This record gives sequence, C-alpha cells and structure tokens, in this order.
Amino acid sequence: MGVVVDINDGQSSEKAPSIDKLMKLVENDIVKVNQHIIDNMQSPVALIPQLAGHLIAAGGKRLRPMLTLAAAQLCGYTGSRHIGLAACVEFIHTATLLHDDVVDESDLRRGQDSARAIWGNEASVLVGDFLFSRSFQLMTADGSLPVLKILSDASAIIAEGEVLQLMTAHDPKASEEDYLNVIKCKTAQLFAAASQIGAVVSDRSKEEEKALENFGMNLGIAFQLIDDYLDYSAKQADLGKAVGDDFRDCKVTLPIILAWSRGSEEEREFWLRTIEREEQNDDDLETAMEIMEKHNTLQDTVERARHYGSMAKDALGIFPDNEAKACLKELVDFCIYRAY
Ligand code: IPE
Ligand code: IPE
Ligand code: MG
Ligand code: MG
Repeated sequence: MGVVVDINDGQSSEKAPSIDKLMKLVENDIVKVNQHIIDNMQSPVALIPQLAGHLIAAGGKRLRPMLTLAAAQLCGYTGSRHIGLAACVEFIHTATLLHDDVVDESDLRRGQDSARAIWGNEASVLVGDFLFSRSFQLMTADGSLPVLKILSDASAIIAEGEVLQLMTAHDPKASEEDYLNVIKCKTAQLFAAASQIGAVVSDRSKEEEKALENFGMNLGIAFQLIDDYLDYSAKQADLGKAVGDDFRDCKVTLPIILAWSRGSEEEREFWLRTIEREEQNDDDLETAMEIMEKHNTLQDTVERARHYGSMAKDALGIFPDNEAKACLKELVDFCIYRAY
C-alpha cells in the first residue's frame, strides 16, 4: 500500500528537512518545559499521573510548545513566561489526544497502546478533563488576560472542531470548505495560538502577533492535511499510528472528498456504501486506495499542504532573517516532508 509521489519535488540533491535545528534552538527551554509538564501532571489521585505519564513518556514531537519557544526567540524575548505557556499548550494538546482516541476508537498512539486501550474510555475522558483544567491553571499562573483569551479561545474552538467533525463524519458529499473549517478548528487553531503567544509575551506589535498567528494557522492546516494523507500511507505505521483508521472509522477527509467529486457513479456508490452506510468488507480499504490513486487525490492532498506551507513561510516575511526564522521555515518543510 502507499502512493508514489515525487519525493523531493524536483530538488533531489536537497537534504531532507528536519526539526534538528529547531530542537537545538530551543534545547535549554524544552528541558524546562518537559520538567514543568511532569511537575504539573502530578495529583494525589494516582491514576492521573499514571495515565497522563504513559502518554507523555511515549514522547511526541512537542511541535506546539516548540512553536511558542521559537516564536518567543524570533521576537527577542528574554524572560521566562514562555516556559509555563509552552507547557500549557502541550497540556491542551495532550488532553485533546486522550479525548480524540476515545472518539476515534484508536488503540495505538505514539507507537504504544493508547491510554483508552489500557485504562478504558472513562478514565481517558476524565484524565483529559483534568489536563484541560490544569492548562487553565497554568494560564492563570501566567496572569496575562490577553494570553488567557488566546488560549481559552483556542480550547473552545478545538472542541467545536471535534464536534463539527462528528456532525460531518460519514458524509462523502462533504465540501472541501467544510473539511477545511474542521481542520482549522481542531488542529490549526492551537498551532496559531502557540505561535501567537510567543509574540504576546514579547510585547511585540499587533502586526507581528498577527503574522505569527497566520504562520501557525497555515502550518497547522498543512500539518493536518499531511496527517490525513498519512492515514492512507504505509509510512503511518512508522509514525506509531495505524494505517486506514480514517476509512474504517468512516471519517471523511480530503482524499475522499476529492475522490467523490472526481468519481464515477459506480465509485460514488462505493463511497456511499462504505462511508455513509458503513458497510465495509475486508478488501474495501484496498479498493478505496485504488480509486484515490486513480484520481490522484492523495497527491493532491499533499499539493494542498504545500500551498498552505508556502503561506506559512510568507507570513514570516516581516521578521528579519535569523536562526529562529530559519528553524520555523524548516519546520514547515519538515511537516510536509513527513509525507515521504
Ligand atoms: C497529532 O499531533 C494530532 C493531530 C493534530 C494530527 P502530533 O502528530 O503533533 O502528535 P504528537 O504530539 O507528535 O504525538
Ligand atoms: C487530531 O485529529 C485530533 C485533534 C487535533 C483534536 P485526528 O483524529 O485526525 O488525529 P490522529 O490521526 O488521531 O492523530
Ligand atoms: Mg484520531
Ligand atoms: Mg480525530
């Protein structure tokens, strides 16, 4: 399984983009953030640190806290508020993962059994609630109303995105606009908030705040587009998640939306049976992949991601060239390169 896409987009001699430089850039800060995360997931109720610790120790790329840290550096920040806020951002993300795996019935997360597979749905939902609440405690510990507004708005929008997705699931006729709206809410909003608060703690102009928000928003859209592409790629297994989950869950993402709009009557009947009526056989995933390949919809999903990735980089245009900016631009390339 998997689709052959031109790996280097015609630039075959280029080195694969990575987040190594970004990780180096925020090296000292991220150690503090991780410590802050460990300290703040504690509770006298033993199951809370046990369950949260399982997911947190499994790793994760820490992309969102790194966005806050790198954005703060880009803005020349010299204080320490960005540490607690980066931890707060990762708490929000971790809470959404616990809830997401319940909603999506996913048993694999970060290459390990998901929390819901080990402790069940009830515990996962409740510990997710704890982590969300903890994130608000971290916001109030920071004490800035503008930051509280950005992060609390983002939390509400993520939840709205997940509910919106629930309402549009199982509909292969969903529009690309509906889909974009969902991914902006459920994923990109947190990337945007994480980036924006780097400028806010640094007391930078509204223009720079907005630029970082736009950067995060476009990067987040590109990131989720690639995530949705990867769900149909053999590479997904290397990333610690199962292949074909979205199809089996009857979840409509861009590769299916494009296949519907480009499809024949017969193909549309296939999508109605498998996605809308949820009647799936063992070989249906393979057929779905064949239809998507025929119409190039996986490749075009990556193309859309590239487009949003370019917009993310352009948003950084108002900042002077420096190491932090170079790292953030390479992060965009890394997120897209994950497809390969
Ligand atoms: C997973 O995000 C959830 C999505 C928005 C697709 P990440 O891929 O950033 O998850 P971790 O934190 O690295 O595991
Ligand atoms: C990401 O959505 C979840 C949130 C951002 C809340 P998905 O369901 O597509 O992510 P994965 O593929 O399980 O990581
Ligand atoms: Mg999921
Ligand atoms: Mg989901």
